[in-house]
Amino acid sequence: CGITGYIGTNDAKEILLKGLEKLEYRGYDSAGIALENQEGTHIFKEKGRIADLRAVVDGKVAARAGIGHTRWATHGEPSKSNAHPHQSASGRFTLVHNGVIENESELRAEYLQHVKFNSDTDTEVIVQLVEKFAKDMETEEAFTKTLRLLKGSYAIAMLDTESPETIFVAKNKSPLLVGVGEDFHVVASDAMAMIQITDRFIELMDQEIVIVKKDRADIYNLQGEVIIREPYRAELDATDIEKGTYPHFMLKEIDEQPLVMRKIIQAYQNADGDLEIDSDIKQAMSAADRIYIVACGTSYHAGLVGKQLIEKLAAIPVEVHLASEFGYNMPLLSEKPLFIFISQSGETADSRAVLVKVKEMGHRALTITNVPGSTLSRESDYTMLLHAGPEIAVASTKAYTAQIAVLAILASVTGAAKGITADLDLVKELGIAANAMETLCDAKEEFEQIAAEYLPAAINCFFIGRSIDHFVGLEGALKLKEISYIQAEGFAGGELKHGTIALIEEQTPVIALATQAGVNGSIRANVKEVAARGASTCIISMQGLETEGDRFVLPAVHELLTPLVSVIPLQLIAYYAALHRGCDVDKPRNLAKSVTVE
Ligand code: G6P
Repeated sequence: CGITGYIGTNDAKEILLKGLEKLEYRGYDSAGIALENQEGTHIFKEKGRIADLRAVVDGKVAARAGIGHTRWATHGEPSKSNAHPHQSASGRFTLVHNGVIENESELRAEYLQHVKFNSDTDTEVIVQLVEKFAKDMETEEAFTKTLRLLKGSYAIAMLDTESPETIFVAKNKSPLLVGVGEDFHVVASDAMAMIQITDRFIELMDQEIVIVKKDRADIYNLQGEVIIREPYRAELDATDIEKGTYPHFMLKEIDEQPLVMRKIIQAYQNADGDLEIDSDIKQAMSAADRIYIVACGTSYHAGLVGKQLIEKLAAIPVEVHLASEFGYNMPLLSEKPLFIFISQSGETADSRAVLVKVKEMGHRALTITNVPGSTLSRESDYTMLLHAGPEIAVASTKAYTAQIAVLAILASVTGAAKGITADLDLVKELGIAANAMETLCDAKEEFEQIAAEYLPAAINCFFIGRSIDHFVGLEGALKLKEISYIQAEGFAGGELKHGTIALIEEQTPVIALATQAGVNGSIRANVKEVAARGASTCIISMQGLETEGDRFVLPAVHELLTPLVSVIPLQLIAYYAALHRGCDVDKPRNLAKSVTVE
């Protein structure tokens, strides 16, 4: 979910709606705003997108203060009544919340037995508690008292009809910033939401409260101590978060990949043009006897490639784990483990939960993220940035290739520090990969054609590959299922005969990657096996390994860097398949880009 708030001299409604539009990547199944003016608090909610909410509030209510919310349902189905803002019984307090309150039923039972609830959300408990306590004390005190009782995560903005000049704000574990303007303040889940009106933001720490007014923002901790913190300037280019001439963010972000490669090379080059990373990171890598990569979704798939890179270039054993599984299936750790968290957003709650746990155990952690100052970055010992620019489409593309490039740099610099000689000039090879990526982005019609040919009426699709191609196949399948809703799976070529081949029928689409010399013969044998059973096969191979009949031949790149190029056709095939089916490419159903709940 995402939240916004505004208090100042301008039209609050428009600023809140624009901010919510920028936060839609955090969830978009329902949305709402509350506007505060002399007549009181006016609430508008809608099931659906911000556009639906906009249609309802257009032309109504002028106000100079308000709060807004876009939701990704966790407690209670997506509906108008479960949409935020939520109000206390008397209507005095109105609140938006991102996060999960873990002890909501205990709190209901202990304090709120006689209160009639209007929704199924954990959030309503917060606003009802504030109202209950505010009967005997000032709002600020009642707010603090409530926060002290909450277990879980929250980013909160609250209005009180009796203090129309104030927004009450609090944060714990969920991201939240306060933006500072000439004669206004804003509240937002991230800087992107408000960058159009200010680039000065105050970072908030966990368990902090901010009393936000038009011309001041006072920070306290839950013990009531005053905290002084200067705003920082967010280095975000407002044009980065616009689609420009592109029909979708996903297509724009696919096209940005060659540029991102070049930015990464630059960012990690020293004055002599050699690749370099922070010496503390190099040391931590060299000291580790085993590396544990922890991530979710696309970042997990990048981690699988990262394992190959680190083991081959730096000779350190690596395990790759899904963050959501790690908590209960924690592997037996080595003596000197180093954890690497890969997260585009740096906010994913599943990954953060593991980070908190391993930090408590006293281990070191490196976060590889696209977002400087994100929670995972702040709470890790070290950070490496992706330099990919804001990624807005829910389906991740440029962050995946950026993660692989940064992992390659990490592996190669560590290897060099350990005295391992590798037959790889990474600056040169990443440059070659960037050029190859560009060639592929220029060949979009080819991939549109493949999507039209293989997937128009497909109910399923398989991606097969061996070695590193297998991992890219997993990512290709994830892209396709996420945005086109075609059931898609990635398989290791050699595993087909152990079960999956039973699924092959007449015309079942099978996309095979053949970019690895060592397994070129065996993956082609797999393609023959499925073709013999009726599959409609599409081989994407690499220059030097191609045979007649291959559907597309990728420009040659270094064998360890093939995912950087082989993923692009798969991203584009998924994009066009979704487009042809009339799906909402940038905002697929049931998903959110940044999942801040476990
Ligand atoms: C969500 C997104 C995925 C993403 C995953 C991990 O599920 O929909 O696209 O890969 O989170 O996100 P992160 O920001 O940690 O990389």
